[in-house]
Amino acid sequence: MRITQTTLQKMHENHEKFAALTCYDAIFANILENAGVEVLLVGDSLGNVLHGDNTTLSVTLDDMIYHTRCVARGSSKAFIMTDMPFGSYQASPEQAFQNASRIMAAGAHMVKIEGGKIMADTVEFLARRGIPVCAHIGLTPQSVHQLGGYKLQGNSEKSAKQLLNDAKILEKAGASLLVMEVVPAKLAKEITRALAIPTIGIGAGVNCSAQVLVLHDMLGLFQGKKPRFVKDFMVGANNIQEAVANYVVAVKTGQFPGQEHEF
Ligand code: KIV
Repeated sequence: MRITQTTLQKMHENHEKFAALTCYDAIFANILENAGVEVLLVGDSLGNVLHGDNTTLSVTLDDMIYHTRCVARGSSKAFIMTDMPFGSYQASPEQAFQNASRIMAAGAHMVKIEGGKIMADTVEFLARRGIPVCAHIGLTPQSVHQLGGYKLQGNSEKSAKQLLNDAKILEKAGASLLVMEVVPAKLAKEITRALAIPTIGIGAGVNCSAQVLVLHDMLGLFQGKKPRFVKDFMVGANNIQEAVANYVVAVKTGQFPGQEHEF
């Protein structure tokens, strides 16, 4: 049976953690969901890991539609969530709806958009018109140049307050899920407690409703320095299936992320 937004909400209410990973093609969709991953995120991180770019800014709507179709063809169980790429939703709620509807038609069950309270009108516009939305706050890679790099967010009293406020506003606007990226674990815990919807952390500590990692990162396929919040699950595994299954168990039992992965 297909995992739905309702399944994820119920898991959250039952304090049952769920596992998400990025996924960009059919074969991995099949491997990940058979290993127990509940959410396949067709992330615009494909700009980094597939295209070799330094940022996600050059990823296009057609790229996201193409990879959503690939993932949808390989999946029969998981919940599929797709990133709206940079420039495809920020101009107006109407622009967001036109582009989100194409992503949904390609097989996504939810779209993800980056940004705080500035995106509340867009979240509301989409949600009221039948498009479920995951909001994404904290380190929002599409704003990397405005943030001055890929760095910890919400680490001052003022910015932590602002993120908590953003999260509440986005939930009120109709967001069904909230991704928090690279924020202090204490803040992510506070935000998770303040909301009724599930939160998905990446570099946000263990007290989120779920965890997500970039697939290539957790398979040890990265160039340069490993980010603090990443764990290479290929270490100690015999193959990719086993590594992913170990990740799922580690997320569900609260063994990942450990203190060494949080801020
Ligand atoms: O694109 C992506 O991989 C993401 C995750 C980092 C959450 O948005």
